[in-house]
Amino acid sequence: MELAQLNSFIQVADSGSFSQAAAKLGLSQPSLSRHLQQLEQSLGVSLLDRYHRPISLTPAGEFFLAYVKPLVEQLEQTALLTQRFAHTPSDSQLTIGFVATVLYGLLPEVISTLKQQFPELNIKLVEVSSEQQMAALKSGEIDVGFGRFRHEDAFVQQIFLRHERLVAALPADHLLSSRPAEQGIALKELVDETLMLYHRTPLPNAIASGPTDPLLYLFEQHGLTPKQTMKVRDLQIALGLVAAGEGVTLVPDSLKTVRTEQIHYHRLYHEDATTPIFMNILAHQPHPFIQPLLSATYHVYERKGITYSLTQLTP
Ligand code: BEZ
Repeated sequence: MELAQLNSFIQVADSGSFSQAAAKLGLSQPSLSRHLQQLEQSLGVSLLDRYHRPISLTPAGEFFLAYVKPLVEQLEQTALLTQRFAHTPSDSQLTIGFVATVLYGLLPEVISTLKQQFPELNIKLVEVSSEQQMAALKSGEIDVGFGRFRHEDAFVQQIFLRHERLVAALPADHLLSSRPAEQGIALKELVDETLMLYHRTPLPNAIASGPTDPLLYLFEQHGLTPKQTMKVRDLQIALGLVAAGEGVTLVPDSLKTVRTEQIHYHRLYHEDATTPIFMNILAHQPHPFIQPLLSATYHVYERKGITYSLTQLTP
């Protein structure tokens, strides 16, 4: 069984067409057909129903595709990552991927702490969602990422940094905004409001039947469903709409300095209303500046008296 045969099978299965698959793989149709026949012969079973259009898979083909496709993808990623050992990472440039909410928080301070120690280091910042950080690390687009969600990826190590509390963002003239700061707001007090949803990617591994939006998921964990929601493109828009009195939302605590003239941020009553922060790195080829970056992060936490989870990187 050869990789080229497996790729031919996957392409035909995905496109349902021999001509499209051949064009995508840069093969002639006879070569593609030969790959498929050889594969079927080596397995001793038909994988394709060739008598109908678009071409469909036999039950054996469906089974084979479901298991072989992730293996081929993993093999290709392994080959790409292995090739990267040939290039030593730059010791003068560090590209950091981040989700918007960490930029409002401690990321600028962490970077300036690192720069004080390494003034020559050239740092590039790119906004990349938590989920896309996995692929961006493997392709070399970023050297490290700061994200909010846990992802399963054999090639990526996620270093848990800390839990950050969520706070309620309310229009300044909202009735709850005059509540004393020490008295938290309960989620059930927000269910009649329009809840602004701003997360672009769904929760990974969320319970299949449950909500995949992180804020709705939190409400559901407390047995609640907001009566009205509005999905917006990003956090800035969500906060703009809160400022305009259109609704409320929940944001990480570090955002509570944004638009404070129009928005009141209030502590939530629930201890578990938190959002994690992870540092994402390639498991086997960490960039030489990962350890200094992690140390700079811990340094900032200590300076600010923030509770965090300490991880020792294996050399
Ligand atoms: C934090 O808010 O904990 C954080 C954000 C970005 C980088 C490191 C830490």
